[in-house]
Amino acid sequence: MTILQRGLRRLARWILAEPEVRRSIRGRGNLFQAEGTTLTNVELDIIGNDNRIILGQGGVFHNVCFRLRGDGHYIEFGPNCRITRGAILWFEDDHCTLQVGQGTSMVEVHIAVTEPGSKVLIGEDCMFANDIDIRSGDSHSIVDAVSGERLNFAEDVVIGNHVWIAPHVVVLKGVQIGDHSVVATGSIITKSCPPNSLIAGNPARVVRTGISWKRERFYHYA
Ligand SMILES: CC(C)(COP(=O)(O)OP(=O)(O)OC[C@H]1O[C@@H](n2cnc3c(N)ncnc32)[C@H](O)[C@@H]1OP(=O)(O)O)[C@@H](O)C(=O)NCCC(=O)NCCS
Repeated sequence: MTILQRGLRRLARWILAEPEVRRSIRGRGNLFQAEGTTLTNVELDIIGNDNRIILGQGGVFHNVCFRLRGDGHYIEFGPNCRITRGAILWFEDDHCTLQVGQGTSMVEVHIAVTEPGSKVLIGEDCMFANDIDIRSGDSHSIVDAVSGERLNFAEDVVIGNHVWIAPHVVVLKGVQIGDHSVVATGSIITKSCPPNSLIAGNPARVVRTGISWKRERFYHYA
């Protein structure tokens, strides 16, 4: 494709302007509340009833797909949250919850909340990088070979306030990450960690304690 063709395509996209919110909703009683937010290319893909999505004032949501299957799911982002590159927020079964505290920013995330009543709770002022995968369940069953009993039920994920998650991280079911912690790039977190921890590796371990972090960079010579 020539530069001219690329330019014309970009211009056409701009003139035709993608709709802010595309809705494919089957069911009744579904609520989407997003006054005072900036939405671009947001998709509501919902099959189910009485689901609620509430996005707080001042938020920015770019390339976000809310994919809900089932009834009574609850999604709430507090004020001034940002998703800048994209997200797939995936809900299955019924009455699952995703709550995100105010001022939390995410570059690119996939969050799956599955199995009845399960929750992913994320605190205020967190900073998530790109390619972050958070899930409250495993989506499929591991069973005892003899009894057939399931061994891997969903468990809530709780990420505290002011937690920095670097790129390419997976947070698995049942994990709690304490306030002010940092998760190193590429980590797979299977166990909880206390506040002010630096966690790293696969499986992730606490590699340093008594730390915190700031969004700003400080320089040696400052
Ligand atoms: C989390 C991070 C910032 C920590 O940096 P740091 O405080 O300088 O940590 P160190 O390099 O001293 O590492 C501390 C220990 O953790 C280990 N470690 C650090 N990062 C690790 C990783 N990603 N996986 C496994 N182990 C890791 C180190 O080997 C070291 O272990 P040791 O004490 O046995 O020697 C850094 O690891 C990281 O992930 N950087 C990427 C940040 C990034 O991508 N930013 C851009 C987007 S947000």
